[in-house]
Amino acid sequence: MQNILVTGGAGFIGSNFIRYLLHSGSAIQLVNLDALTYAGSLKNLTLIASDARYTFVHGNICDSALVPHLLRQHKIDTVVHFAAESHVDRSIHNPGQFITTNVVGTQTLLDACRQVWLEEKTVPLAEVRFHHVSTDEVYGTLKPNDPAFSEATPYAPNSPYAASKASSDHLVRAYHHTYGLPVTVTNCSNNYGPYQFPEKLIPLIILNALAGKPLPVYGDGQQIRDWLYVEDHCEAIRLVLARGRIGETYNIGGNNQPSNLEIVRQLCGLLDQLVPHSMPHESLIRFVADRPGHDRRYAIDLTKIQTELGWQPRESLTTGLRKTVEWYLSNPGWIETIQRQNNYQQWVQNNYQQRGGTS
Ligand code: NAD
Ligand code: DAU
Repeated sequence: MQNILVTGGAGFIGSNFIRYLLHSGSAIQLVNLDALTYAGSLKNLTLIASDARYTFVHGNICDSALVPHLLRQHKIDTVVHFAAESHVDRSIHNPGQFITTNVVGTQTLLDACRQVWLEEKTVPLAEVRFHHVSTDEVYGTLKPNDPAFSEATPYAPNSPYAASKASSDHLVRAYHHTYGLPVTVTNCSNNYGPYQFPEKLIPLIILNALAGKPLPVYGDGQQIRDWLYVEDHCEAIRLVLARGRIGETYNIGGNNQPSNLEIVRQLCGLLDQLVPHSMPHESLIRFVADRPGHDRRYAIDLTKIQTELGWQPRESLTTGLRKTVEWYLSNPGWIETIQRQNNYQQWVQNNYQQRGGTS
């Protein structure tokens, strides 16, 4: 792993991954290909923007001329593919964009790698890797007593987002099986941490609470997610790149499975300590109309990645949430820019007004 192409590196996890790799002192060259959609921002990368090992390319993964050009120009040996439309609620509003980016975009990248690595052989085959970053949502939803998702759990995606990611996973598998493209896939649970766009539950709750706005909880708030601090995800991907077996899938999760309501209450408790207010922040909680087709429970079985690669999350939910809240409190400039840009207020209005007027 010397010349790495990261896609979607201006988003939440991609930007954390780039910082993680560069800060770990690796002797690498890293190209970040990002279309800077509403979810991407160069503000997420200011800490490393001038690093000589880093190059930013403003472009689209669906651009079938640009991608092979970048692979050749930078002698890329490793692709780490984060770029995606990532928000379930937006996939319910506008599924077509998810097919274009997540399915066609992934296929465009795979085809470019096939052409440049397998046909033109710009880099020795033993040195190349296509790593696909995917989600646990491809497995669908669990009943209360179902076992956690393992790598053998059948796919049963329930949202347009999950279906588009499942489709991209199948394409990655097919390019390995059919053409022998060296691939690995990780299916990860819900991430949280610094630089997460405030459409997702945890940053949305923190920012609404700080602004004294209602805290929208979908349905009864008893849905369960498996929360992972983003840096733990980055470490897991790095290990899979270093020692994961070609053609294999690894599930990644946080071993933290609180209900959404518990998460929101925990955040309120932290904010009560860190920015005391006359009323407890919990008083802002509002139950609003549920997400259509809302998956009830996710949980990850970590056995494979633990036993094969020795990975496990370092951060507990208590320490991770505290770090996250502290990060948002310390970065008002980032929050201000992100909320001003990219039609954020428009999205908040579209998504929440119809649920009971919490915007
Ligand atoms: P994000 O929405 O924060 O960032 C996505 C990035 O991709 C943005 O920078 C955006 O500009 C870029 N992008 C979108 N379309 C593009 C295109 N056509 N060409 C180039 N760049 C494009 O997403 P995230 O939360 O960081 O998720 C990253 C990846 O991890 C996604 O593939 C997602 O499915 C997966 N994932 C996310 C989570 C999570 O909890 N956030 C969990 C598991 C897996
Ligand atoms: O499981 C991995 C997935 O986690 C990733 O693949 C997705 O990219 C990522 O967005 C995330 O999906 P979720 O739908 O689980 O995340 P979100 O933060 O949108 O919602 C978390 C839970 O909180 C979910 O049950 C819906 C609920 N929720 C969400 C929002 C935005 C609320 O109750 N209120 C809200 O306002």
